[in-house]
Amino acid sequence: MKVYVSQPLVEPSTTELLAGYEVVVGTAAVQGEALAAAVTDADAIVGTPPVRITAAVLAAAPRLKVVANCAVGTDNVDLEACRARGIVVTNTPGVLTDATADLAFALILALARRLREAEALARSGRWDGWKPTELLGISLAGKTLGVYGLGRIGAAVARRAEAFGMAVFGMVDGDGEDVFLRLLEASDVVTIHVPLTPATRGRFGRAELARMKPGALLVNTARGPVVDGDALVEALESGRLGGAGLDVYPEEPRIDPRLLSRDDVVLLPHVGSATVETRLAMARTACEEAVRVLSGAPPVHRVA
Ligand code: GLV
Repeated sequence: MKVYVSQPLVEPSTTELLAGYEVVVGTAAVQGEALAAAVTDADAIVGTPPVRITAAVLAAAPRLKVVANCAVGTDNVDLEACRARGIVVTNTPGVLTDATADLAFALILALARRLREAEALARSGRWDGWKPTELLGISLAGKTLGVYGLGRIGAAVARRAEAFGMAVFGMVDGDGEDVFLRLLEASDVVTIHVPLTPATRGRFGRAELARMKPGALLVNTARGPVVDGDALVEALESGRLGGAGLDVYPEEPRIDPRLLSRDDVVLLPHVGSATVETRLAMARTACEEAVRVLSGAPPVHRVA
């Protein structure tokens, strides 16, 4: 049986867990028709976020039984098309909670304490000593963190915030519009931890960003399209938002050029789960799920 692994993973994962299978490893450049051609005889796909498993790709893979995504998000997979064919879809929750929460909190700290500007000044050779008014940020203690999406990762960020003396206003998506608006209005920092679904796409648009406290900070380590890219730039340009910490973007790997020169944003290249331990655990979880389904056992983390 053949397993198509859409990008090279941290090893030992495929080498050990997929040892009994024919394994073909692709790259993020293999998309669309090239991907369809690569999976025509695949029994399983171990997917990764940048590689889009569309209905057309699935249609080209008549033997496919499982898409084991090496990520907690599955928005790169056409779940409806999988359901229609009875193709199992799995993800890798749990193992990336702490790494992603750490990174979200790193962005919160970086914005609050202006690390980007401070680090640039220290390296520049222009720093001429301690000054009472230089590079003043904001203190987190006593401020309110709004957690949009109080699931595993959101709750882990909330625990970190409490340790820093912050009050937490958390919500799950089902809490409704009134709770969402109160969260926007009450929070000094808002951090996003929802999956990308039709309901969350564009959830932070012009109207919502305008409800945030003047000077509030927005952090997104979930999925780029949850925030409207133009609305975000406008809110930063107008000074409505005090800053944004982004690990994800609406059309990755493109980053809006208007963000690149801004001092009030911290930009990371989708590295939320990027620790050795976490990426290994994700790779092994995805391979194990593929093997479970191929050998007729029930998967542990079934999404569709
Ligand atoms: C990464 O973005 C993930 O969804 O795990």
